[in-house]
Amino acid sequence: MEWETISQSGSEGAYREGSPRSRDQFERAIRSMPGGAKGAYFYPPYPLTIDRAEGCQLYDVDGRCFIDFANHHTAQILGHGHPAVLEAVRGQLSRGIAVGGPMGVEAALAEELCRRIDSIDKIRFCNSGTEATLHAVRLARAFTDRPKIAKFEGGYHGSHDAVEISVAPPVDRAGPASAPRPVPSTGGMAPQAAAEVVVLPYDDEQAVERLLIQHRDELACVLFDPKVGMYQTRPAFAQFLRRMTRQHQMLLVFDEIVSFRVGRGGYQELCQVTPDLTTLGKIIGGGFPVGGVGGRSDIMDLFDNSGPPTGLGQSGTFSAHPVTMVAGLATLEQLDDAAFHQLNELGRHLRSGLEKCFQRVPQQAQIVGQGSLFSIYFAAGPLADYRSAAEADSTPVRDAVRHCLQRGLFLNHNLVMNALSLVTGEAEVERLIAAWSEILPPVARADGALGVAAANRAGT
Ligand SMILES: Cc1ncc(COP(=O)(O)O)c(C=O)c1O
Repeated sequence: MEWETISQSGSEGAYREGSPRSRDQFERAIRSMPGGAKGAYFYPPYPLTIDRAEGCQLYDVDGRCFIDFANHHTAQILGHGHPAVLEAVRGQLSRGIAVGGPMGVEAALAEELCRRIDSIDKIRFCNSGTEATLHAVRLARAFTDRPKIAKFEGGYHGSHDAVEISVAPPVDRAGPASAPRPVPSTGGMAPQAAAEVVVLPYDDEQAVERLLIQHRDELACVLFDPKVGMYQTRPAFAQFLRRMTRQHQMLLVFDEIVSFRVGRGGYQELCQVTPDLTTLGKIIGGGFPVGGVGGRSDIMDLFDNSGPPTGLGQSGTFSAHPVTMVAGLATLEQLDDAAFHQLNELGRHLRSGLEKCFQRVPQQAQIVGQGSLFSIYFAAGPLADYRSAAEADSTPVRDAVRHCLQRGLFLNHNLVMNALSLVTGEAEVERLIAAWSEILPPVARADGALGVAAANRAGT
């Protein structure tokens, strides 16, 4: 394929031409919602409005069909409209939607998660991953009687003040790599929020050890998102964190809100680490809003105010919503060893296909992935931590994503944190590989410039 053709297909003009109804929907939405609907992937200049979803396919309001490689921020592990989930939801709708009392279904999901995840003796449900990490942090502070938490640079754990620190800081404002400065990720946070957080560099054992020792008397926990499918992860690093936190009597909180989809017992089972607390979300709600925090009984029992008050509360009007609970349970029931094997094999197939495609033009693009999760970066070096990922070239991303859309392939708008579903097949994966072969053709340009970016400069 000629550069000009790629430029055409990834251009804003081609995108606009194919999506007039999405543009109309966006123009309507921004009149009543700042910036339009949240929770959507945003392909500039406006997001695609989706009309319906079925299996591994999304249909937009302009009548086009896309293979879904994003699966609602990784949450839709069974794809869209799985019959078992629909049946469970319909059954629950007819029994009651929100009734102000337990309906038994929450205990069934809790038991299933306790069975799957060895480190979880007890679990509490809430409505989002944000709430789950908020309550994990409170549990850790209450249990240890220490004020601060440690989290990793580049780690996203939701949108409350304690964790929205150094999520994607500008590197020039983020201090030295081995002792990152806490940088608030948004305005409007409590003035002291950043001072309550020790920011750790991912995958740097020496620096992490030094920082944990330096702050050992004030740290309640280390909050760890393993970044599976986003960085090149090392189980030994997670094991090191377990040793360190134990040694310094801090809690280790595994954020498995994304990584729970890599295996029956989550990433913690794969890396053989037993955290004190685990936060969950996304797939455990079967596509409905959900969060969960679980772990050791002696910590979780701080939430048990059925006897004398513990001083720690957790509440939420829609927590453990019965429709969510049955959808989550129906989803987990599909996720047996064979299902994970299928997802992981397909992930392997996708990675090896894209690796081959990228090897033809070394130094330009890379795929990082594990299980059914994958991310694509325009970067040459290792992707081991936040700073190496931040060095990736973001210039070609927009056109590459729009080129994929033109080929009927729906990916995360920044190419990071994509996910396969159980109904994605090899044929769909082959289509993705073919589209990327067009983006990075076999012959690299003599000046080494990136294909899409180069094509843009030539074409505009
Ligand atoms: C690792 C991780 N933790 C927490 C969250 C927050 O979850 P939610 O968006 O449900 O609040 C996310 C969301 O993407 C996440 O990826």
